[in-house]
Amino acid sequence: MQLIVQPSAVGDATVTVPGDKSVSHRALMLGGVAEGRTDISGFLAGEDCHATLTAMAAMGVHVEQDTDTQITVHGVGLQGLKAPDGPLNLGNSGTAMRLMTGLLSGQSFTTMLTGDDSLTGRPMQRVISPMLEMGASIDSDSGYPPLTVQGRFPLRGIDYTLPVASAQVKSAILLAGLYAEGVTSVSEPAVTRDHTERMLESMGVTVEKSGNSIQIDGRQAPRGCHIQVPADLSSAAFVMLAALIADKADVRIRDVGVNPTRTGVIDILQAMGADISLENPRLFGHEPVADIRVRSSELHGGQVDPSLVSLAIDEFPVLFVAAAAAQGKTVFSGLGELRVKESDRIASMASGLRTLGIRVDESADGAVVHGGRFSGGVVGSHGDHRVAMSLAIAATIAQGPVTITDTMSVDTSFPGFVDCLVDLGVQIETDT
Ligand code: S3P
Repeated sequence: MQLIVQPSAVGDATVTVPGDKSVSHRALMLGGVAEGRTDISGFLAGEDCHATLTAMAAMGVHVEQDTDTQITVHGVGLQGLKAPDGPLNLGNSGTAMRLMTGLLSGQSFTTMLTGDDSLTGRPMQRVISPMLEMGASIDSDSGYPPLTVQGRFPLRGIDYTLPVASAQVKSAILLAGLYAEGVTSVSEPAVTRDHTERMLESMGVTVEKSGNSIQIDGRQAPRGCHIQVPADLSSAAFVMLAALIADKADVRIRDVGVNPTRTGVIDILQAMGADISLENPRLFGHEPVADIRVRSSELHGGQVDPSLVSLAIDEFPVLFVAAAAAQGKTVFSGLGELRVKESDRIASMASGLRTLGIRVDESADGAVVHGGRFSGGVVGSHGDHRVAMSLAIAATIAQGPVTITDTMSVDTSFPGFVDCLVDLGVQIETDT
Protein backbone atom coordinates (compact mmCIF):
# COMPACT_ATOMS: atom_id res chain seq x y z
CA MET A 1 0.00 0.00 0.00
CA GLN A 2 1.13 3.56 -0.63
CA LEU A 3 -0.08 6.90 0.65
CA ILE A 4 -0.37 9.85 -1.71
CA VAL A 5 -0.53 13.19 0.10
CA GLN A 6 -1.23 16.54 -1.56
CA PRO A 7 -0.17 19.87 -0.07
CA SER A 8 -3.12 20.64 2.19
CA ALA A 9 -4.63 23.29 4.43
CA VAL A 10 -4.90 21.74 7.89
CA GLY A 11 -7.61 23.68 9.71
CA ASP A 12 -9.40 23.74 13.05
CA ALA A 13 -10.57 20.35 14.33
CA THR A 14 -11.10 18.17 17.37
CA VAL A 15 -9.91 14.60 16.89
CA THR A 16 -9.27 11.41 18.80
CA VAL A 17 -6.40 9.02 18.15
CA PRO A 18 -6.30 5.30 19.03
CA GLY A 19 -5.35 3.85 22.40
CA ASP A 20 -1.85 3.67 23.81
CA LYS A 21 0.17 0.79 22.43
CA SER A 22 2.35 0.28 25.50
CA VAL A 23 -0.61 0.29 27.88
CA SER A 24 -2.65 -2.06 25.64
CA HIS A 25 0.13 -4.69 25.52
CA ARG A 26 0.57 -4.55 29.28
CA ALA A 27 -3.19 -4.78 29.95
CA LEU A 28 -3.37 -8.02 27.97
CA MET A 29 -0.32 -9.61 29.59
CA LEU A 30 -1.01 -8.55 33.17
CA GLY A 31 -4.76 -9.13 32.76
CA GLY A 32 -3.97 -12.63 31.46
CA VAL A 33 -2.03 -13.64 34.59
CA ALA A 34 -4.22 -11.72 37.04
CA GLU A 35 -6.79 -13.28 39.34
CA GLY A 36 -10.25 -12.62 37.90
CA ARG A 37 -11.36 -10.51 35.02
CA THR A 38 -9.85 -7.38 33.47
CA ASP A 39 -12.02 -5.11 31.35
CA ILE A 40 -10.03 -3.00 28.92
CA SER A 41 -11.64 -0.02 27.20
CA GLY A 42 -9.91 2.15 24.61
CA PHE A 43 -7.71 -0.82 23.59
CA LEU A 44 -5.46 -0.25 20.56
CA ALA A 45 -6.84 -2.51 17.84
CA GLY A 46 -3.57 -2.47 15.91
CA GLU A 47 -1.47 -5.35 14.64
CA ASP A 48 1.18 -5.23 17.37
CA CYS A 49 -1.34 -5.59 20.19
CA HIS A 50 -3.24 -8.20 18.23
CA ALA A 51 -0.07 -10.31 18.22
CA THR A 52 0.02 -10.12 22.02
CA LEU A 53 -3.69 -10.96 22.23
CA THR A 54 -3.23 -14.03 20.02
CA ALA A 55 -0.20 -15.15 22.05
CA MET A 56 -2.06 -14.90 25.37
CA ALA A 57 -5.01 -16.81 23.87
CA ALA A 58 -2.60 -19.51 22.63
CA MET A 59 -1.51 -19.97 26.25
CA GLY A 60 -5.05 -20.59 27.46
CA VAL A 61 -6.25 -17.08 28.37
CA HIS A 62 -9.85 -16.53 27.33
CA VAL A 63 -10.03 -13.10 25.69
CA GLU A 64 -13.32 -11.67 24.44
CA GLN A 65 -13.13 -8.81 21.97
CA ASP A 66 -16.53 -7.20 22.53
CA THR A 67 -15.78 -4.42 20.05
CA ASP A 68 -12.51 -3.39 18.40
CA THR A 69 -11.53 -1.37 21.43
CA GLN A 70 -13.40 -3.12 24.25
CA ILE A 71 -11.75 -6.31 25.52
CA THR A 72 -12.46 -8.65 28.39
CA VAL A 73 -9.56 -10.77 29.63
CA HIS A 74 -10.36 -13.69 31.91
CA GLY A 75 -7.19 -13.97 33.96
CA VAL A 76 -5.83 -17.44 34.69
CA GLY A 77 -3.66 -16.40 37.65
CA LEU A 78 0.14 -16.36 37.86
CA GLN A 79 0.39 -20.16 37.54
CA GLY A 80 -2.41 -20.67 35.02
CA LEU A 81 -0.72 -20.22 31.61
CA LYS A 82 -0.41 -23.38 29.46
CA ALA A 83 2.29 -24.29 26.95
CA PRO A 84 1.16 -23.12 23.48
CA ASP A 85 0.90 -25.71 20.67
CA GLY A 86 3.59 -24.04 18.58
CA PRO A 87 5.82 -20.97 18.29
CA LEU A 88 4.28 -17.59 19.17
CA ASN A 89 4.61 -15.19 16.25
CA LEU A 90 4.84 -11.63 17.57
CA GLY A 91 4.88 -9.96 14.16
CA ASN A 92 6.61 -6.57 14.21
CA SER A 93 6.40 -5.99 17.95
CA GLY A 94 9.55 -5.52 20.02
CA THR A 95 7.41 -4.72 23.05
CA ALA A 96 5.52 -8.02 22.74
CA MET A 97 8.72 -10.01 22.37
CA ARG A 98 10.69 -8.42 25.19
CA LEU A 99 7.85 -8.31 27.72
CA MET A 100 6.74 -11.83 26.80
CA THR A 101 10.30 -13.07 27.36
CA GLY A 102 10.01 -11.80 30.95
CA LEU A 103 6.59 -13.35 31.46
CA LEU A 104 7.59 -16.71 29.96
CA SER A 105 10.82 -16.93 31.96
CA GLY A 106 8.72 -17.69 35.06
CA GLN A 107 6.64 -20.48 33.48
CA SER A 108 7.21 -24.21 33.90
CA PHE A 109 7.25 -24.78 30.13
CA THR A 110 9.25 -23.89 27.05
CA THR A 111 8.06 -21.47 24.36
CA MET A 112 9.49 -20.31 21.07
CA LEU A 113 9.05 -16.62 20.17
CA THR A 114 9.46 -15.41 16.62
CA GLY A 115 8.43 -12.46 14.44
CA ASP A 116 8.73 -10.72 11.07
CA ASP A 117 11.96 -9.72 9.29
CA SER A 118 12.24 -6.45 11.21
CA LEU A 119 11.71 -8.08 14.61
CA THR A 120 14.13 -10.92 13.93
CA GLY A 121 16.79 -8.25 13.28
CA ARG A 122 16.34 -6.59 16.68
CA PRO A 123 18.73 -7.16 19.58
CA MET A 124 17.44 -9.40 22.39
CA GLN A 125 20.61 -9.99 24.44
CA ARG A 126 19.57 -7.03 26.61
CA VAL A 127 16.57 -9.05 27.83
CA ILE A 128 18.20 -12.49 27.68
CA SER A 129 21.03 -11.57 30.09
CA PRO A 130 18.87 -10.61 33.10
CA MET A 131 16.56 -13.60 32.51
CA LEU A 132 19.55 -15.98 32.61
CA GLU A 133 20.61 -14.38 35.91
CA MET A 134 17.11 -15.01 37.25
CA GLY A 135 17.36 -18.70 36.34
CA ALA A 136 15.61 -19.11 32.94
CA SER A 137 17.39 -20.69 29.95
CA ILE A 138 17.08 -18.91 26.62
CA ASP A 139 18.40 -19.98 23.21
CA SER A 140 18.65 -17.39 20.48
CA ASP A 141 20.33 -16.81 17.15
CA SER A 142 23.40 -15.08 18.65
CA GLY A 143 21.23 -12.67 20.63
CA TYR A 144 18.53 -12.27 17.93
CA PRO A 145 15.13 -13.97 17.54
CA PRO A 146 13.80 -16.60 17.36
CA LEU A 147 14.08 -17.10 21.11
CA THR A 148 13.41 -20.39 22.86
CA VAL A 149 12.50 -19.53 26.43
CA GLN A 150 12.76 -22.39 28.90
CA GLY A 151 11.05 -21.00 31.94
CA ARG A 152 11.70 -21.91 35.54
CA PHE A 153 9.58 -21.49 38.63
CA PRO A 154 10.41 -19.94 40.96
CA LEU A 155 12.99 -17.59 39.46
CA ARG A 156 15.61 -15.85 41.61
CA GLY A 157 15.17 -12.19 42.52
CA ILE A 158 18.06 -10.09 41.18
CA ASP A 159 19.45 -6.61 41.59
CA TYR A 160 20.01 -5.47 38.02
CA THR A 161 21.33 -2.27 36.47
CA LEU A 162 20.14 -1.79 32.90
CA PRO A 163 23.06 -1.05 30.56
CA VAL A 164 20.65 0.69 28.11
CA ALA A 165 17.60 2.76 29.11
CA SER A 166 14.73 0.51 28.01
CA ALA A 167 11.19 0.31 29.36
CA GLN A 168 10.77 -3.00 27.58
CA VAL A 169 13.68 -4.62 29.40
CA LYS A 170 12.73 -3.00 32.73
CA SER A 171 9.19 -4.35 32.28
CA ALA A 172 10.41 -7.85 31.37
CA ILE A 173 12.40 -7.94 34.62
CA LEU A 174 9.42 -6.72 36.67
CA LEU A 175 7.13 -9.32 35.07
CA ALA A 176 9.68 -12.05 35.78
CA GLY A 177 9.97 -10.59 39.29
CA LEU A 178 6.37 -11.66 39.94
CA TYR A 179 7.61 -15.25 39.58
CA ALA A 180 10.75 -14.85 41.71
CA GLU A 181 11.70 -15.74 45.27
CA GLY A 182 12.58 -12.58 47.16
CA VAL A 183 13.00 -9.05 45.88
CA THR A 184 13.76 -8.08 42.28
CA SER A 185 15.32 -4.68 41.84
CA VAL A 186 16.02 -2.86 38.57
CA SER A 187 17.90 0.42 38.16
CA GLU A 188 17.69 2.48 34.99
CA PRO A 189 20.31 4.86 33.59
CA ALA A 190 17.57 7.30 32.50
CA VAL A 191 13.86 7.48 33.29
CA THR A 192 11.74 5.41 30.89
CA ARG A 193 7.99 4.92 30.57
CA ASP A 194 6.56 3.49 33.78
CA HIS A 195 3.25 2.00 32.58
CA THR A 196 4.12 -1.44 33.97
CA GLU A 197 4.75 -0.04 37.45
CA ARG A 198 1.49 1.96 37.37
CA MET A 199 -0.59 -0.94 36.07
CA LEU A 200 0.85 -3.33 38.65
CA GLU A 201 -0.23 -0.85 41.32
CA SER A 202 -3.73 -0.67 39.77
CA MET A 203 -3.82 -4.46 40.12
CA GLY A 204 -2.90 -4.40 43.80
CA VAL A 205 0.80 -5.26 43.47
CA THR A 206 3.18 -3.20 45.61
CA VAL A 207 6.02 -1.62 43.65
CA GLU A 208 8.62 0.45 45.52
CA LYS A 209 10.60 3.24 43.88
CA SER A 210 13.73 4.85 45.21
CA GLY A 211 15.71 7.22 43.01
CA ASN A 212 16.32 5.48 39.70
CA SER A 213 15.54 2.01 41.02
CA ILE A 214 12.31 0.00 41.23
CA GLN A 215 11.73 -3.01 43.49
CA ILE A 216 9.08 -5.67 43.51
CA ASP A 217 8.54 -8.48 46.00
CA GLY A 218 8.00 -11.81 44.23
CA ARG A 219 4.90 -13.97 44.30
CA GLN A 220 2.40 -11.09 44.56
CA ALA A 221 -0.72 -11.97 42.56
CA PRO A 222 -2.12 -9.17 40.38
CA ARG A 223 -5.91 -8.75 40.63
CA GLY A 224 -8.03 -8.07 37.56
CA CYS A 225 -9.40 -4.53 37.26
CA HIS A 226 -10.86 -2.06 34.77
CA ILE A 227 -8.26 -0.44 32.56
CA GLN A 228 -9.21 2.60 30.53
CA VAL A 229 -6.44 3.04 28.00
CA PRO A 230 -5.55 6.69 27.25
CA ALA A 231 -5.11 7.79 23.63
CA ASP A 232 -1.51 7.29 22.54
CA LEU A 233 0.65 10.41 22.81
CA SER A 234 2.99 8.84 20.25
CA SER A 235 0.11 8.84 17.73
CA ALA A 236 -1.11 12.25 18.87
CA ALA A 237 2.37 13.59 18.04
CA PHE A 238 1.64 13.26 14.29
CA VAL A 239 -1.54 15.30 14.64
CA MET A 240 0.28 17.84 16.81
CA LEU A 241 2.91 18.37 14.17
CA ALA A 242 0.39 18.64 11.33
CA ALA A 243 -1.28 21.48 13.27
CA LEU A 244 1.97 23.19 14.28
CA ILE A 245 3.39 23.43 10.76
CA ALA A 246 0.06 24.42 9.14
CA ASP A 247 -0.59 28.08 8.23
CA LYS A 248 -3.48 28.53 10.59
CA ALA A 249 -4.79 25.62 12.61
CA ASP A 250 -6.17 25.15 16.09
CA VAL A 251 -6.53 21.46 16.91
CA ARG A 252 -7.61 19.59 20.03
CA ILE A 253 -6.79 15.93 20.61
CA ARG A 254 -8.93 14.31 23.27
CA ASP A 255 -8.08 12.00 26.19
CA VAL A 256 -4.35 11.71 25.50
CA GLY A 257 -2.01 9.97 27.94
CA VAL A 258 0.37 12.57 29.40
CA ASN A 259 2.29 10.36 31.79
CA PRO A 260 5.41 12.45 32.58
CA THR A 261 7.65 9.58 31.43
CA ARG A 262 6.23 10.10 27.92
CA THR A 263 5.91 13.86 27.48
CA GLY A 264 9.42 14.63 26.19
CA VAL A 265 7.93 15.36 22.76
CA ILE A 266 5.86 18.21 24.21
CA ASP A 267 8.89 19.67 26.03
CA ILE A 268 11.06 19.45 22.91
CA LEU A 269 8.42 21.05 20.65
CA GLN A 270 7.72 23.81 23.19
CA ALA A 271 11.47 24.57 23.33
CA MET A 272 11.25 24.95 19.52
CA GLY A 273 8.47 27.54 19.92
CA ALA A 274 5.36 25.33 19.72
CA ASP A 275 2.07 26.58 21.16
CA ILE A 276 0.85 23.44 22.97
CA SER A 277 -1.30 23.41 26.06
CA LEU A 278 -2.84 20.67 28.19
CA GLU A 279 -6.51 21.10 29.11
CA ASN A 280 -8.82 19.22 31.43
CA PRO A 281 -6.11 17.16 33.21
CA ARG A 282 -7.39 14.02 34.95
CA LEU A 283 -6.53 10.39 35.64
CA PHE A 284 -7.49 7.14 33.91
CA GLY A 285 -6.66 4.77 36.77
CA HIS A 286 -3.02 5.55 37.60
CA GLU A 287 -2.36 7.19 34.20
CA PRO A 288 -2.51 11.01 33.76
CA VAL A 289 -4.61 12.14 30.78
CA ALA A 290 -5.45 15.52 29.21
CA ASP A 291 -6.85 17.07 26.07
CA ILE A 292 -4.02 18.57 24.06
CA ARG A 293 -4.54 21.88 22.25
CA VAL A 294 -2.10 22.79 19.49
CA ARG A 295 -2.00 25.99 17.46
CA SER A 296 0.13 26.71 14.39
CA SER A 297 3.50 28.11 15.42
CA GLU A 298 6.77 29.37 13.96
CA LEU A 299 9.23 26.66 14.99
CA HIS A 300 12.93 27.35 15.42
CA GLY A 301 15.88 24.97 15.68
CA GLY A 302 18.43 24.58 18.46
CA GLN A 303 20.10 21.84 20.45
CA VAL A 304 17.65 19.16 21.58
CA ASP A 305 18.25 18.36 25.25
CA PRO A 306 19.68 14.79 25.33
CA SER A 307 18.18 14.25 28.80
CA LEU A 308 14.75 14.21 27.11
CA VAL A 309 15.60 11.36 24.72
CA SER A 310 14.25 8.49 26.85
CA LEU A 311 11.04 10.46 27.45
CA ALA A 312 10.43 10.92 23.70
CA ILE A 313 12.06 7.78 22.33
CA ASP A 314 9.37 7.01 19.70
CA GLU A 315 8.82 10.60 18.59
CA PHE A 316 12.15 11.37 16.91
CA PRO A 317 10.95 10.55 13.38
CA VAL A 318 8.26 13.22 13.68
CA LEU A 319 10.64 15.54 15.55
CA PHE A 320 13.00 15.30 12.56
CA VAL A 321 10.10 16.62 10.45
CA ALA A 322 9.56 19.43 12.97
CA ALA A 323 13.26 20.28 12.67
CA ALA A 324 13.07 20.25 8.87
CA ALA A 325 10.10 22.66 8.99
CA ALA A 326 11.80 24.95 11.56
CA GLN A 327 13.97 28.03 11.03
CA GLY A 328 17.69 27.24 11.33
CA LYS A 329 19.29 23.96 12.23
CA THR A 330 18.37 21.47 14.94
CA VAL A 331 21.00 19.28 16.55
CA PHE A 332 19.94 15.84 17.83
CA SER A 333 22.30 13.68 19.90
CA GLY A 334 22.10 10.63 22.17
CA LEU A 335 19.85 8.81 19.69
CA GLY A 336 21.88 5.59 19.29
CA GLU A 337 18.82 3.47 20.24
CA LEU A 338 16.96 4.77 17.18
CA ARG A 339 19.22 2.63 15.02
CA VAL A 340 17.68 -0.57 16.47
CA LYS A 341 13.98 0.30 16.32
CA GLU A 342 11.50 -1.04 13.70
CA SER A 343 14.03 0.35 11.20
CA ASP A 344 17.24 2.36 11.63
CA ARG A 345 15.19 5.51 12.21
CA ILE A 346 18.08 7.96 11.86
CA ALA A 347 18.95 6.54 8.43
CA SER A 348 15.31 6.07 7.32
CA MET A 349 14.36 9.65 8.19
CA ALA A 350 17.57 11.13 6.79
CA SER A 351 16.95 9.37 3.50
CA GLY A 352 13.26 10.38 3.31
CA LEU A 353 13.95 14.01 4.20
CA ARG A 354 16.85 14.28 1.75
CA THR A 355 14.58 13.01 -1.04
CA LEU A 356 12.23 15.87 -0.10
CA GLY A 357 15.09 18.38 -0.43
CA ILE A 358 16.13 18.75 3.22
CA ARG A 359 19.77 18.70 4.30
CA VAL A 360 20.47 16.16 7.06
CA ASP A 361 23.99 15.52 8.39
CA GLU A 362 23.95 12.14 10.09
CA SER A 363 26.24 11.03 12.93
CA ALA A 364 26.51 7.71 14.75
CA ASP A 365 24.01 8.72 17.43
CA GLY A 366 22.22 11.72 16.03
CA ALA A 367 21.78 14.18 13.19
CA VAL A 368 21.80 17.85 12.32
CA VAL A 369 18.63 18.71 10.43
CA HIS A 370 18.67 21.95 8.44
CA GLY A 371 15.32 23.72 8.15
CA GLY A 372 14.06 24.18 4.58
CA ARG A 373 11.13 23.70 2.19
CA PHE A 374 9.89 20.19 1.37
CA SER A 375 9.69 19.33 -2.32
CA GLY A 376 7.28 16.71 -3.66
CA GLY A 377 8.60 13.22 -4.43
CA VAL A 378 8.47 9.51 -3.75
CA VAL A 379 9.82 8.31 -0.39
CA GLY A 380 10.05 4.88 1.26
CA SER A 381 8.88 3.98 4.76
CA HIS A 382 11.48 1.23 5.28
CA GLY A 383 8.54 -0.83 6.58
CA ASP A 384 8.44 1.43 9.65
CA HIS A 385 5.05 2.78 10.77
CA ARG A 386 6.43 5.91 12.43
CA VAL A 387 8.66 6.78 9.45
CA ALA A 388 5.67 6.42 7.08
CA MET A 389 3.44 8.66 9.21
CA SER A 390 6.15 11.27 9.82
CA LEU A 391 6.77 11.64 6.09
CA ALA A 392 3.00 11.93 5.49
CA ILE A 393 2.93 14.89 7.88
CA ALA A 394 5.89 16.52 6.09
CA ALA A 395 3.94 16.09 2.84
CA THR A 396 1.09 18.32 4.07
CA ILE A 397 3.33 21.39 3.55
CA ALA A 398 5.38 20.14 0.58
CA GLN A 399 5.54 22.02 -2.70
CA GLY A 400 4.05 19.10 -4.62
CA PRO A 401 2.44 15.70 -4.02
CA VAL A 402 4.40 13.15 -1.98
CA THR A 403 3.99 9.39 -2.38
CA ILE A 404 5.05 7.25 0.57
CA THR A 405 5.57 3.62 -0.39
CA ASP A 406 5.21 0.44 1.68
CA THR A 407 2.88 1.89 4.30
CA MET A 408 0.95 -1.20 5.46
CA SER A 409 2.90 -0.97 8.73
CA VAL A 410 0.88 2.12 9.77
CA ASP A 411 -1.73 -0.30 11.13
CA THR A 412 0.73 -1.61 13.72
CA SER A 413 0.16 1.48 15.88
CA PHE A 414 -2.34 3.86 14.25
CA PRO A 415 -5.30 2.18 12.57
CA GLY A 416 -7.44 5.00 11.15
CA PHE A 417 -4.45 7.29 10.46
CA VAL A 418 -5.71 8.21 7.00
CA ASP A 419 -9.23 9.06 8.23
CA CYS A 420 -7.77 11.12 11.06
CA LEU A 421 -5.70 13.17 8.58
CA VAL A 422 -8.81 13.65 6.41
CA ASP A 423 -10.60 15.04 9.49
CA LEU A 424 -7.78 17.56 9.83
CA GLY A 425 -8.26 18.69 6.23
CA VAL A 426 -5.43 16.73 4.62
CA GLN A 427 -5.87 15.49 1.05
CA ILE A 428 -4.62 11.94 1.32
CA GLU A 429 -5.37 8.79 -0.66
CA THR A 430 -4.29 5.20 -0.38
CA ASP A 431 -3.28 3.11 -3.34
CA THR A 432 -2.77 -0.65 -3.13
C1 S3P B 1 8.14 0.56 24.75
C2 S3P B 1 9.41 0.97 25.05
C3 S3P B 1 10.30 1.62 24.07
C4 S3P B 1 9.53 2.14 22.86
C5 S3P B 1 8.53 1.13 22.36
C6 S3P B 1 7.53 0.77 23.42
C7 S3P B 1 7.33 -0.12 25.79
O1 S3P B 1 11.24 0.66 23.61
O2 S3P B 1 10.42 2.50 21.84
O3 S3P B 1 7.84 1.61 21.21
O4 S3P B 1 6.11 -0.28 25.60
O5 S3P B 1 7.90 -0.48 26.82
P1 S3P B 1 12.67 0.43 24.36
O6 S3P B 1 12.39 -0.25 25.64
O7 S3P B 1 13.45 -0.45 23.41
O8 S3P B 1 13.27 1.79 24.50
